[in-house]
Amino acid sequence: MKKACTYAVATCLFLILILFSACSPTRRLSSFDPQVNEFLERMTLEEKIGQMTQPEQDLVLGNPGDMQKYFIGSVLSGGNSDPADGNSLEAWTDLYDKVQAEAMKTRLAIPVLYGIDAVHGHSNVLGSVIFPHNIALGCTRDADLVEKIGRATAIEVRATGIQWTFGPCVTVPQDIRWGRTYEGFSEDPTLVRGLGKAAVLGLQGTDLSNPLSILACAKHYVGDGGTAAATAAPPGFPQSKAGRLRLDQGDTKLDEAALRRVHLQGYITAIQAGVGSIMPSYSTWNGVRCSASKRLLTEILKEELGFEGFLISDYNAIDQIDPDYKKAVRISINAGMDMAMAPNTYREFFNTLKELVEEGKVPMSRIDDAVKRILRVKFAMGLMDPDRPRTADRTLHKDFGSKEHRSLAREAVRKSVVLLKNENQTLPISKKATRIHVSGKSADNIGNQCGGWTILWQGRSGEVTPGGTTILQAVKAAVSQDTEVTYSRDGTGAEGAALGIVVIGELPYAEGIGDRADLSLDDEDITAVNNIKSAGIPVVVLVISGRPLIVNDILPQTDALLVSFLPGTEGRGIADVLFGDYNPTGRLSFSWPKSMDQLPLNRNSPGAEYDPLYPFGYGLTY
Ligand code: BGC
Repeated sequence: MKKACTYAVATCLFLILILFSACSPTRRLSSFDPQVNEFLERMTLEEKIGQMTQPEQDLVLGNPGDMQKYFIGSVLSGGNSDPADGNSLEAWTDLYDKVQAEAMKTRLAIPVLYGIDAVHGHSNVLGSVIFPHNIALGCTRDADLVEKIGRATAIEVRATGIQWTFGPCVTVPQDIRWGRTYEGFSEDPTLVRGLGKAAVLGLQGTDLSNPLSILACAKHYVGDGGTAAATAAPPGFPQSKAGRLRLDQGDTKLDEAALRRVHLQGYITAIQAGVGSIMPSYSTWNGVRCSASKRLLTEILKEELGFEGFLISDYNAIDQIDPDYKKAVRISINAGMDMAMAPNTYREFFNTLKELVEEGKVPMSRIDDAVKRILRVKFAMGLMDPDRPRTADRTLHKDFGSKEHRSLAREAVRKSVVLLKNENQTLPISKKATRIHVSGKSADNIGNQCGGWTILWQGRSGEVTPGGTTILQAVKAAVSQDTEVTYSRDGTGAEGAALGIVVIGELPYAEGIGDRADLSLDDEDITAVNNIKSAGIPVVVLVISGRPLIVNDILPQTDALLVSFLPGTEGRGIADVLFGDYNPTGRLSFSWPKSMDQLPLNRNSPGAEYDPLYPFGYGLTY
């Protein structure tokens, strides 16, 4: 009888285990609680708060002794933060080792989690492979590919020692005037669900303790892509130039059902994939800051969706909750925030939170919950294992910017190109054409191809990073020896060529600065297209931009139109499509409007007036 009972219990446990592994590919973070709880008991209040505090690397290292004094548990490099001695693979690796060595000098020697925005490759580091931004990956509809890109990114990040990226961004942008549109896979929640999950699986793998995995962070929770356009900045935020359109960090006015239907979807699947961290958004939901909302952070995310990892606030986001900093910290931590990204205010955060606990305004149970969540991740990643090296694995340097990663990026580029118009079979172009004239401001510009969040926070035009191929270089590499490729930025001198290619679009930008009230083409682009047209040859226009643009000014002059959004460093993927080595398969991840007065326009917006120039999902082939 006893034996039978034991057998039944064992079978039950086995079935539960099978059932659990079918739902989640990774080990539950809470399964590390026995080790975590034991560790927590040994920690002082200061040591606990230190785990919750994340300064900017250069600021904390610039104040010798602060890593130890504040028991710092995590550091970040923000969009413009490089090692003091240059932006090279070596310098980044040295920086990581230095940070970790500082952490080893604290009493408990808990390793630091180092976070960075590796949002399309290890995109802060010179020479990394820059993959297409998410908007372009959305056009591939290819979850396997997105997972592989996550793997490759994780390896390049690990090559510098760093173990955490602030990505994937699972935003569902509803208004393309928002300057962060390109960080989202799609306007459509279903697509975001699938690709967001794939990205998490790629970055983290199925086992966080794999030294080639990095911690992912789904962001920005929640509704960052649903904000209403405003001309004034939200309260508490520095007012931008009067009258300038602003969507970033705005207010998402939606009932909870709609918020869930559109904006929550990516978090549901990211949690299923085992995501270890989530970043609450700067934005507000019906006037309440996400970073201050107990409903969003604790009730929905942790209690209902069962998120067992930790929440990291956005850059100085806690400061925006209330002008009274102490009140802001109290509200956010009590709402469920676990770690504060406090780049320059880390001392203030540490001291304020300590005071709040001592005054009983933040319960000790909340601190323990936050630290437990952070330590679960550290245990799961193997960071707490004393036998693990505390230095970066420099043998991975050989994989950084490698041929394999470049060829994966090239595959992603060719799969993300969307063919929008192709009259008289202008495309594919013959590799034996006598002469091809290439023009446009982005034809020979790797910085424009990469967009924002590339080496610099806002990116920049020109030679932003070594390696990779511009579109002009890719065209030259693709054609036969007998084909002449000529180039002029403004499109002049095209007479006599068999065909002209004009590469137009947007210049790099990122959050805040990228909000634009008018997405019409600039004069330089229109002139370049007109100049080619007046040479009396077929015109192929390629758009490189962070979102659909209003193309009416050039559409009649254009024989073939393609969009690659922000393809990154591997321009050869575009040549694969132009010359027919790859039959285009990309389909739009966003609706393409005819005019600005249609915005916001997307296929899920209520109302019958869905009349885009090219609908969501559109894409031709040869
Ligand atoms: C952005 C985040 C980013 C963070 C750290 C913030 O300004 O909103 O997306 O992860 O900076 O660089």
